[in-house]
This record gives sequence, C-alpha cells and structure tokens, in this order.
Amino acid sequence: MATKSVFDISGKAAIVTGGALGIGFGIVTRLVEAGVEVLVADVNKEALETVPNRLKGGKVRTLVLDISKEEGWEKTIKACVSDFGKLDILVNNAGIYPQVPMLKMDPATFDKVYAINLKGLAFLSKAAALQMIKQGKGGRIINIASIDSLHPSMVGLAAYDSSKGGVWSFTKNFAVEVAPHGILVNAIAPGGIATEGTAQPLAGSGFTEAQMKEMMAGFTARIPLKRMGDPDDIAKVVLFLASDAANYMTGSLMVVDGGMLLS
Ligand SMILES: NC(=O)c1ccc[n+]([C@@H]2O[C@H](COP(=O)([O-])OP(=O)(O)OC[C@H]3O[C@@H](n4cnc5c(N)ncnc54)[C@H](O)[C@@H]3O)[C@@H](O)[C@H]2O)c1
Repeated sequence: MATKSVFDISGKAAIVTGGALGIGFGIVTRLVEAGVEVLVADVNKEALETVPNRLKGGKVRTLVLDISKEEGWEKTIKACVSDFGKLDILVNNAGIYPQVPMLKMDPATFDKVYAINLKGLAFLSKAAALQMIKQGKGGRIINIASIDSLHPSMVGLAAYDSSKGGVWSFTKNFAVEVAPHGILVNAIAPGGIATEGTAQPLAGSGFTEAQMKEMMAGFTARIPLKRMGDPDDIAKVVLFLASDAANYMTGSLMVVDGGMLLS
C-alpha cells in the first residue's frame, strides 16, 4: 500500500463526543480536513451551534448529547447512521475534571465524574461496537484518557484520576472483547493541554485563583518540552489511530504529554 493511502481516512464516518470545544473541537477540525464526515455530539448546545461556522467547510452534523444519560447512547449512533449511512470511528473525548480534594468531595460530584468520564464512554462504545459489528467491516474506537490514568498530576483529582484509570482498563478489556470483529480500541493519554476547560477558574475547588495559577505554573515548569499542549497535538494522534497506519494496534495507550510523565 502506498504511504499516502496508509494515512488516507477520507470517506469514513465518525462521532466525536465533547467535540464542540477544546481537544474535541481540535479532533473534529482535523478529521473534517482529512475528509471524514463527523457527527459532533456535545452537551453544550450554544457551543455546538457555532461548530459549522468555526470549521472551514467539510461534512459535519451536530447533536445535543449528555453522555451521562442512557437515552443518548443509541440515539447518537442512530443519528450518525442516519446522517452518513454508517459509523467507522468513535472518538470518546467528552470528559470533566472538577478539581475537588477528596477530603471535600461529595458523592454527587464523584458520581457525575464517573457517569460522564467512564460509564458514558463505556456504553457509547458498546452501542458503537454493535453498529460496527452489524456493518461487518470493523472500526476504530479511540478513548481520550489522561496521563492521570497512569500517574497523578495534581491534588484534587482523585475522582477524575480513578475515572481515567478506569478508561484505560476499559480500553484494554474491550479491545480484547471486540478484536474478533476487527474493531480496534485504543486510548490517548494527553498531558496538560490548553483548552477552554483548563482556562476556566475552577469554581468550587476550594483553591483560590492565586493558588490555581501557581499550580498551573508549577505544572508547566515540569513539562520537559516546556509548553502546554495544543488540542491539535492530540488531534494528529487521533488521525494516526484512525488510519491504516495503526492496523496492528489495539488495547494501546499513546502518551502525548511533552514528556511530562518523565519528569
Ligand atoms: N485539557 C487537558 O489538559 C486534558 C488532559 C488530559 C485529558 N484530557 C481529557 O480530554 C478531554 C477533553 O478535555 P478538554 O480540556 O478539551 O475539556 P473542555 O472542558 O475544554 O471541553 C470538553 C467538552 O466536552 C463537553 N462535555 C462535557 N460534559 C459532557 C457531557 N455530559 N456530554 C457530552 N459532552 C460533554 C463540553 O461541553 C466540552 O465541549 C476530557 O476527557 C479530558 O479529561 C484533557
């Protein structure tokens, strides 16, 4: 196969959750540019409405989805099939990271983190895989985990870190389960990526703004490449995992963190 064809994913159909902003929007932008038809599913209706205008053309549809709610899972797959006739790639990107020390954590916040970051991701993967099995041509599921799946980055992320550790474990087990159907399940572990989410002051975290700034500065100083990542740093790795270049990869975790885990 010619090298150009190895990376050619044009004509595929994809779903990107949490694709209205941040890393998700970066992924949508690259997929659309690569000629992929993309359903952007996000809970933020306002941001979702501006997605087509923020892209330079391409075939894109939007859907309001709260991934923590059961009624959204099959609906999202059906919407993609109805819009594009098939589903080839699912990118599970939607996630939240409220920074609340465990000593101040309430059960409702903990449940919410798990419902969005892990349960929603798992059941949307199930619905996607059932559709891919029906199509009989395999598929790709790409889960956005975190370096915190492997190692804590800062205090206040115990619920988040355990949910993302779960994403990594889920990725491996589900990869084994659906391998006979040619469905490849991989994960990406981003380090610190500058997004709308990381730019927000962390309301309710218990940390002051000054403390937060200090923590972020300390975090960046520890990155060997000395910069926060960009959503596109993650999007380009999604392109790779969605392409034939990654044909022999399943149950893998690709760390994309500027070397952070080495520091
Ligand atoms: N930014 C980082 O430094 C970083 C590092 C490691 C991992 N990640 C992971 O990358 C993913 C994206 O992070 P980000 O920084 O771009 O976040 P962000 O907050 O900037 O964007 C997240 C997007 O997900 C959507 N979303 C939130 N809850 C949802 C729900 N219930 N249903 C559907 N959509 C929902 C939001 O509306 C938003 O569009 C998350 O899974 C996050 O844990 C981020």
